[in-house]
Amino acid sequence: MENIKKLKLDNTEKLFAEAKSLIPGGVLGIRRPYNFVKGEFPIFFEEGKGSHVIDVDGNEYIDYLCAYGPIIIGNREEEIDNAVIRQIQDKGFCFSLTQKYQNELAKKMNEHIPCAQMSLFVTTGSDATTCAIRLARSYTGKIKILRCGYHGWHDWCVEVKGGVPEKLYEDVQGFPYNDLSALETMLKENKNETAAVIITPLGHPLADDITEPEKGYLEGVKELAGKYGALLIFDEIRTGFRVSMGGAQKYYGVTPDMAVFGKAMANGYPIGAVTGKAEIMKEGEKNVFISSTFFPNSLSYVAALKTIEILERDNILSKIWEKGEWFIQQVNSLCKKYKTGAKISGIPPMMFITFHKDREGIYKNKRTDFYTQLIRRGIFLQPFHHGYICARHSQEDLLKTVRAIEDSFKYLIDKYGEV
Ligand SMILES: Cc1ncc(COP(=O)(O)O)c(C=O)c1O
Repeated sequence: MENIKKLKLDNTEKLFAEAKSLIPGGVLGIRRPYNFVKGEFPIFFEEGKGSHVIDVDGNEYIDYLCAYGPIIIGNREEEIDNAVIRQIQDKGFCFSLTQKYQNELAKKMNEHIPCAQMSLFVTTGSDATTCAIRLARSYTGKIKILRCGYHGWHDWCVEVKGGVPEKLYEDVQGFPYNDLSALETMLKENKNETAAVIITPLGHPLADDITEPEKGYLEGVKELAGKYGALLIFDEIRTGFRVSMGGAQKYYGVTPDMAVFGKAMANGYPIGAVTGKAEIMKEGEKNVFISSTFFPNSLSYVAALKTIEILERDNILSKIWEKGEWFIQQVNSLCKKYKTGAKISGIPPMMFITFHKDREGIYKNKRTDFYTQLIRRGIFLQPFHHGYICARHSQEDLLKTVRAIEDSFKYLIDKYGEV
């Protein structure tokens, strides 16, 4: 199998060299080059349309990272952007008082999301998880938090501890996914002092397989939280308005006390939401202070309302499921045909190709080579983070991707042999 040529990335490299003297790390967080394959992936995009993106060197890709989750329909969706543009031109969006859109959006949350009785809207997913934790601590009068999954960059949960005093996270402990007895042990050790158990209902750890809840797991987590007097919060920042209109809680049939949403709900416009039982949410009336200059900025509300309208009207999520099912099936049969050690995990709207972890660590080289081959073939997928299917992924896109995956597997077989 011919080793396809490395992409021309001169402009990306130039911009990054400049950025390093202007922005700490050049670019922030998970978008840094070490999270991809250094020297093989672009670092700056120029534009996007539908399911495609173009980098600053003019290379075009089918994008499966979907901006890490917000792109549920597609890039530069005219209907959504036009609603936002009309809002800017006809009414405005940043005022000394709130516009009416929050009420409409809260009604939509109530309509779709099983746990929703009252909602409040913030700007990012991290705002939402932090807000939910604060509400839970205030409502229960307890301090301890048990967490499972990534919940953002704020002090109580950030993984890299630089700059964060220990006292701000000493009452927060992680627990493993799909392990009820570990959770019960921790709840017991905390002697009824746990304010909340917060968990991503679908397991989607960094650099590892997506894991569905085992039968009875989420029900068990809910029961245990209740038994030990803790609230159950689902972190649906990735699964919300993607797995189903009511999130993973609707899909798996387990209703938490509270849940947080973000990413896909506004197709790229910044918004986060906390929703849940009215009596808990009402802590936000007096006891808990939730305010920011930009929380009521209505452009994101307008974008969210339009996104949800399109998702409802065009039955988008079931179409995404259909595409994802086909894609996973195709990749699965390639994994069987080419014994590279690769597998695909996940559910149709969110999937991840990973490599069986051998003791020698050769899987890491295979991962680097595989994702390098894909990016050179115009397929934008992140080696350490799962991908998404959006509405604008066409059958042609998916077919091209499946062929690129097959070619990349052939490359691996040539280089490493079968396992
Ligand atoms: C499950 C989950 N929770 C919370 C967050 C934090 O959201 P944000 O990055 O918008 O602050 C993320 C972001 O990736 C997430 O995936």
